[in-house]
Amino acid sequence: MTIESIAAAETDPRRLRLRVENVIEETSDALTLVFADPGTDGTTAFRYRPGQFVTLEIPHAQHTSVARCYSLSSSPDCDERPAISVKRTTGGYASNWLCDNAVVGLTLSALHPAGTFVPPRWDKPLILFAAGSGITPIMSILKTALAIHNQRVELIYANRSPQSVMFADTLNDLTQRYPTRLDVRHWFESERGLPTHTGLREIIPSHADSDAYLCGPASFMDIACAALDSAGLPPDAIHREAFASIETNPFLYTAPRASTAMHGGTPVTAEVEGEDYSFFCPPDTVLLDAMLAQGIDAPFVCREGTCGACAFTLTAGEVEMRVNETLDDYEIKKGMRLACQSVPVSDSVAIVID
Ligand SMILES: Cc1cc2nc3c(=O)[nH]c(=O)nc-3n(C[C@H](O)[C@H](O)[C@H](O)COP(=O)(O)OP(=O)(O)OC[C@H]3O[C@@H](n4cnc5c(N)ncnc54)[C@H](O)[C@@H]3O)c2cc1C
Ligand code: FES
Repeated sequence: MTIESIAAAETDPRRLRLRVENVIEETSDALTLVFADPGTDGTTAFRYRPGQFVTLEIPHAQHTSVARCYSLSSSPDCDERPAISVKRTTGGYASNWLCDNAVVGLTLSALHPAGTFVPPRWDKPLILFAAGSGITPIMSILKTALAIHNQRVELIYANRSPQSVMFADTLNDLTQRYPTRLDVRHWFESERGLPTHTGLREIIPSHADSDAYLCGPASFMDIACAALDSAGLPPDAIHREAFASIETNPFLYTAPRASTAMHGGTPVTAEVEGEDYSFFCPPDTVLLDAMLAQGIDAPFVCREGTCGACAFTLTAGEVEMRVNETLDDYEIKKGMRLACQSVPVSDSVAIVID
């Protein structure tokens, strides 16, 4: 990382510096990086909810850096330190850089935790589906569910082989600690081939009044969704998290020095983290761009509609989203939208970002 970007990280309230405190080898191609609590390093407090991700800045010779999102595999409710778990992607840049360079003391620039793959309620049994590195946000949700809630948790976890199972020891410990509340069912491709609809349907528990959280390749989540549908779960009880590399680099974004107030367009009132703002969103402009032009410190990461960091609640008016790769039916019904993709289509709009 350049001296300029370290200086920017120290002054930009969007950023954190995360210092690796421990490196744990999960499998031959996956590591967990445990970070020192940034709050105790005298920088901004690090708060997250189970299922959220951080965005890391990974040094890159040609592009200065690239940004990648990694879900927190730790639970804010029972782990002392935040942790992420990274699996090498064949031919991938950042995952291999992290796995090759992660040592105690390595310090990385990061954006604050974000994302909407967070259970809004904990009063129903949980059915969790994970494949490969998709276990990371699921692990955080699972640990919180067991530690501070009291419902049953069923985990269906697909991997190539027993050797590719991440968190195997932790899962064994948890099944022993919570024998009546946690059930882990492994699916090994080496033994049964790729997961199938019928195969998954057979191992899904019978109670339809559950909430389901899924993370893994799209094809796996499609099959798991279909199996949950056959088991009677309604679509708004099923939540998915997709992993992908983001193409933009939020670390290279510089906020405008002064607000560039715009007077034409749709009047918008926005409550952003407790502060009230009123401004105009010009025609054919997404709300995030209009807020940033006003100097409003609105959260974002990818600006591509894939990460959910810019999610807001629409409290009045209508918007149209250009792309939505992350919000599910349940979230849309609750009024959530993506600021980086939403163009107002009503006379006025009111939004809340919390
Ligand atoms: C919300 C979220 C949470 C995530 N959480 C995790 C997590 O907990 N753990 C985890 O391991 N990952 C996670 N990911 C995925 C992670 O962000 C990266 O996408 C992943 O590590 C791969 O990044 P990479 O830089 O190694 O691969 P990339 O360099 O982005 O490459 C990805 C793939 O594209 C191919 N490719 C690259 N460039 C080209 C090209 N020019 N032409 C053709 N093919 C190309 C590569 O060979 C590779 O197969 C998450 C993603 C998101 C959005
Ligand atoms: S910033 Fe990622 S979805 Fe909007």
